[in-house]
Amino acid sequence: MTKTTPPSIITLDGPAASGKSTIGRKLADALGYLFFDTGIMYRAVTWIALQFDMDLRDEDAITELAQNAQIDIHPPSVGDGRACDVIIAGRDVTWEMRSGDVDANVSVVSAYAGVRKALSERQRQIGRRGRIVMVGRDIGTVILPEADLKIYLDASAEERARRRYEEIIARGGQADYDEILNKMIERDRFDSTRAIAPLRPADDAVIIDSDKMNAEQVFERALELCNQDL
Ligand code: CDP
Repeated sequence: MTKTTPPSIITLDGPAASGKSTIGRKLADALGYLFFDTGIMYRAVTWIALQFDMDLRDEDAITELAQNAQIDIHPPSVGDGRACDVIIAGRDVTWEMRSGDVDANVSVVSAYAGVRKALSERQRQIGRRGRIVMVGRDIGTVILPEADLKIYLDASAEERARRRYEEIIARGGQADYDEILNKMIERDRFDSTRAIAPLRPADDAVIIDSDKMNAEQVFERALELCNQDL
């Protein structure tokens, strides 16, 4: 009997809170691959811009920031649910990446052509080394269209808002479900309609609708896709 080898480059795209990070991490762990969440890079640039009170409408300045920003991403040093440590200027800012302010502004920053170019190049370099699960919005369509397996993870806005709400509460934070839902719909709309690299499934992506599935079931399905002949 021949044994199939798992695909070396696996992309995982989808809208906000569709479970990409949870599934991507589990999959990478199971395969012994690197897990790389590209959203962190867009969030980090947005966070720095907000820290410096930069005008987010100033595309040139934000692009320059994306080109020069020193964002260090390391394996997690604390077991508090984080997928990685995000270090900027020597400071652990991992959870700041998830603030409401970053959520509200990241789509504007990520729509800029120069920002995408700067960050895409770094992502591609890392991705092409293989043995990687790379997560984002445009990984299967733009960053690594040559990927061996492309998964697009979807779920209704209501279900995704519920998951994000529970994530925040579990971390001890405060949240309002309706506010999360409305802001999430708005961010998805922005991400899906932007001119460059909009959120959409690649033509050859396998779509998993996770509305009626728990994380374990989605993970099993993704693992099954890795172990089948493509
Ligand atoms: O965790 P969540 O799905 O809410 O967001 P994320 O994956 O951290 O991405 C944050 C934002 O970064 C998205 O809303 C997009 O605007 C942008 N993004 C992108 O444009 N391209 C990527 N490959 C990843 C994220």
